[in-house]
Amino acid sequence: PHRAVWATAGELVIDGVAMAALARRYGTPVYVMAERDVRDRCRAYRSALPGAEIAYAGKAFLCREMVRWIEEEGLWLDLASSGELAVARTAGFPPERVLVHGNAKTPRDLAAALDLGVGRIVVDSIGEINRIAAGASRARPQRVMLRVTPGVTTRTHPAVATGGEDQKFGLSISSGAALEAVRRVLDHPELVLTGLHCHIGSQLGEVRPYLIALRRLVALLAEIRDRHGRVLDELNLGGGHGVATRPGGAALDVTRLGPRLTATLRAACAACDLPVPRLFVEPGRAIAAAAGVTLYRVVAIKARPGGGAYVAVDGGMSDNPRPALYGAHHEVALVGRRSEAPLRTMTIAGRHCEAGDLLAADVALPADVRPGDLLAFAGTGAYNHAMASNYNLVARPPVVAVRAGTARLIVRAETEADLLARDMAPAGVAVRQGR
Ligand code: LLP
Repeated sequence: PHRAVWATAGELVIDGVAMAALARRYGTPVYVMAERDVRDRCRAYRSALPGAEIAYAGKAFLCREMVRWIEEEGLWLDLASSGELAVARTAGFPPERVLVHGNAKTPRDLAAALDLGVGRIVVDSIGEINRIAAGASRARPQRVMLRVTPGVTTRTHPAVATGGEDQKFGLSISSGAALEAVRRVLDHPELVLTGLHCHIGSQLGEVRPYLIALRRLVALLAEIRDRHGRVLDELNLGGGHGVATRPGGAALDVTRLGPRLTATLRAACAACDLPVPRLFVEPGRAIAAAAGVTLYRVVAIKARPGGGAYVAVDGGMSDNPRPALYGAHHEVALVGRRSEAPLRTMTIAGRHCEAGDLLAADVALPADVRPGDLLAFAGTGAYNHAMASNYNLVARPPVVAVRAGTARLIVRAETEADLLARDMAPAGVAVRQGR
């Protein structure tokens, strides 16, 4: 019952907290995260993949409170910058459960990872190997995985498809780059090669591409054993497990994926006479997306020439760029009051100064929607707050966690003072006080 109830009755209650009251208290726009929802999904992963390590991909949504939930649920963290590392470090997350990614890890990223003593660094290019080795030592060797491109095609948006050979991430298997990287890592006494990694895309709906990738990685493990006499004992299949974006829509649920992965891994290893490696997966969206809701207030309504209406809200592509970037769909509902009005097709527009800033096209809402009404967008827990910007110098919204009838601020709202703080005002400008 703590999941969002998309009520036609007029109120949306998440784990005992009424959204209308929450919006009045914290203002709008506001991101709401359901803590128990996040924790439940962490547990679902752990029970569907016993013996595997689950690394939550922090790029989907990260703050110190989230890090605490992930830590308490026994997951690892997949991080991709010194900034994300700083959040994990200052939240007291155990560094040995951190995995670091990036196709262009800067000196600062690598220094942060090595200083913290992270569990794994995932090597993404041959040139990076010497850089990591230079920051490690024989006394304190760095454990690394190699990211390879298994060459599988997936059905998803091109911006998030990463299964193919020609892409900016990872080392190609067919060109020999992957094996060359293995040789070089093994040459460094400061490095320990624990295994292979791949990430074939995001918002994927099918099990099959994962099984193909898994078999290719196991074949590569066998080749590494045959050439180098080394049996690597970890295999990381990345994330990308799709979530439903419409009621009853398709999702790649871990209860379906988990057993297939485990069985295929066993069979593939048996066929190559390899011991079964420790499996890692890195879900981001599947842990965070459905736990989040964004609340907006309607500001303006405008009839469209061809019928229907634009409903403009107090947020937009600065807090959720996904509809504009990927044509992503989020369910919308009127909350906070009951309406008996017939449904009418409307387009929810953001507040930003470009025509493409539409949060939802052609959605059905009660015809009497008016300024001041609250709209809730579903499934905004992943890649919304994380990808927010200050476009038009709009301050980023706060994040409020809800649990068992209680709401708690976990990321405060950005203020105009925050926005001005980085702007070096020209000398001698007299600041005019507002009235
Ligand atoms: N592991 C690696 C190495 C990744 O690059 C990613 C996501 C993940 C795991 C987690 O993928 P997930 O389970 O969340 O699909 N901004 C886009 C999604 C970009 C995903 C990038 N990499 C969106 O809003 O849909």
